[in-house]
Amino acid sequence: MSKTVLVSGGAGFIGSHVTVELAQAGYDVVIADDFSNCDETNYKGVCAILGREMPLVTMDFCDAVAVERLFGQWHIDAVIHFAAFKAVGESVQEPLKYYRNNLLSFLNVLEAAKRQGGCNVLFSSSATVYGEPEELPVTERSPRQPATSPYGNTKQMCEDFLRDAVGAYPGIRGVALRYFNPIGAHPSALIGELPRGVPNNLVPFITQTAIGKRECLSVFGNDYPTPDGTCQRDYIDIVDLARAHVCAVARMLDGRMKAGYEVFNVGTGRPVSVLELVTAFEKVNGVKLNWKYAPRRAGDVTAIWADPSLANKELGWRAERSVEETLAAAWAWEKRLAGK
Ligand code: WQD
Repeated sequence: MSKTVLVSGGAGFIGSHVTVELAQAGYDVVIADDFSNCDETNYKGVCAILGREMPLVTMDFCDAVAVERLFGQWHIDAVIHFAAFKAVGESVQEPLKYYRNNLLSFLNVLEAAKRQGGCNVLFSSSATVYGEPEELPVTERSPRQPATSPYGNTKQMCEDFLRDAVGAYPGIRGVALRYFNPIGAHPSALIGELPRGVPNNLVPFITQTAIGKRECLSVFGNDYPTPDGTCQRDYIDIVDLARAHVCAVARMLDGRMKAGYEVFNVGTGRPVSVLELVTAFEKVNGVKLNWKYAPRRAGDVTAIWADPSLANKELGWRAERSVEETLAAAWAWEKRLAGK
């Protein structure tokens, strides 16, 4: 009998790609989203890729009654929790909004999991928990640093909620996946990133500049202690990232976990500088990007990339796409959005 996976935030950038990979792997997927930070574009794209209407529940995960009702309506074998606010800067301006939304929604999921006598819970965490790392690459045993934003703090706190719930309530098993920098889009160009307003993140800013929506990309800082002076990150293809979720869900459902709570880095292990990314984008897509150096952006770490060997070994997963393939997919998506 096939297993049912609930994907909260399933209409968002990561959630939509995960839904596609889960469904293609044979899972029954229930998408839940409140559409507070996205429209129906990705939901429709998911249905188009899969060739069928996917079950969709429009709901707010801060509504405990609605979450309880959802768990009563479906037999949920595993839940993947994406539903959260994610703008780092906004979280500094409006910390309570972030704490209320990101913490309460996850508490409601954990309480529903407890009430039904157990569940497999996958939490979408972030490399932001490592702060400015002392050693590179970072492993799962690298220390978490005090969070520098309320957004980052909610990621750390939710990891702890899950760890403690697993420790206290039999039947709850948990995995936290720490994503590095997810970029790109589905090769069909039917789903992708849809930032509202001016993008904060690098790749959407690059594609919007290339298409002419933005005048010029600012490369924040050229005096970092890195080979070319710009920051280094571990950019992970969104479909590769989505596949890691399928591996983690299968591990939980098949009883292959080595502990009730496990943490995995989801990255490529390959550092790429801002300059290298810009150059790769221009080369693979044959476009010239208008960019200039600008002062450092407050709060940016100099360099971070993953040691993904634990996920490689335990999840049987590895990142496969080159950064060039990923940047080509990001560009195809931007062009499709622009109707070009
Ligand atoms: C990457 C690099 C910038 C924009 C953030 C969050 C993290 C996560 C993903 C979100 C940096 C440089 C960027 C621009 C630039 N989670 N840059 N010009 O900061 O590594 O991670 O997003 O849900 O928690 O912190 O990603 O894409 O913003 O920046 O030069 O216009 O690109 O300085 O070096 P970041 P990013």
